[in-house]
Amino acid sequence: MSRRKETIKKEWNDAAESWVDFVRKSKDYYRDELNNPATFKLIGDVKGQIVLDLACGEGYNTRTLARKGAKVTGIDFSEKLIELARREETKEKLGICYHVLDATDLKEFSNKHFDLITCFMSLQDIENYRKAIYEVARVLKNRGRFVFSIPHPCFETIIEDGKRVSATRRYFGAVKYPIQWEMERLVKPFRTTSFHRTLTDYFDALSKSRLLVSRLVEPRPTKEGLRIHPQLRKVLVTPQSIIVESIKCTENR
Ligand SMILES: C[S@@+](CC[C@H](N)C(=O)[O-])C[C@H]1O[C@@H](n2cnc3c(N)ncnc32)[C@H](O)[C@@H]1O
Repeated sequence: MSRRKETIKKEWNDAAESWVDFVRKSKDYYRDELNNPATFKLIGDVKGQIVLDLACGEGYNTRTLARKGAKVTGIDFSEKLIELARREETKEKLGICYHVLDATDLKEFSNKHFDLITCFMSLQDIENYRKAIYEVARVLKNRGRFVFSIPHPCFETIIEDGKRVSATRRYFGAVKYPIQWEMERLVKPFRTTSFHRTLTDYFDALSKSRLLVSRLVEPRPTKEGLRIHPQLRKVLVTPQSIIVESIKCTENR
């Protein structure tokens, strides 16, 4: 593993306790009132499907997929987050199998194994996203779906040379940038690393792996979300995220 990847993994291991509190105590209202309702609507019925949740973190959405009747595997490269996910599985047995694995090397899984692969708000954190997408395509069945959400590359805020820059001002060209998580809602601030890429970068990687984009959603907050968290009103003007569904279209792999 490269030194840079080790550093990014360590950031997530160090963030684990604070991240778990943020996610499980409903403090992540962008997840609860914006991204999850739209993503699960797009995903639809998963009953009986064999699903991989890529970069699953502590497993919040992995558990939701399992509760909806899917047979789910979750992978993440953070040992700490997978340990916390496994601990939940011992409390509520959902039949989820967790692995500490890098998204760019899914060697545990044979070709054409999964019906659906999800990747919730993580592809922007995976340095070699092209390799991860290639692996996704390899382990997906033909006509299987890859559904992922990312911060909207056109509107995200990037940190460049220590300054916050809107992607509208420096859209073209990939860049690695730090995220300082320091909202009051966190028990402890932490830092992670993300990568800004263009929509073309993502779509090009998908099409090179024969994943054809079938649907795209720029989610709007729920009515309840707007009522409880009026801050979400800004998402009615400019999207915070984008959700992409793609379908594996090849008979040759
Ligand atoms: C923003 S979190 C999202 C986690 C989870 N999908 C969720 O919705 O709660 C991003 C996740 O990506 C994982 N990650 C980043 N790079 C990875 C890689 N190369 N392989 C596997 N996981 C990775 C991190 O450990 C972290 O859990």
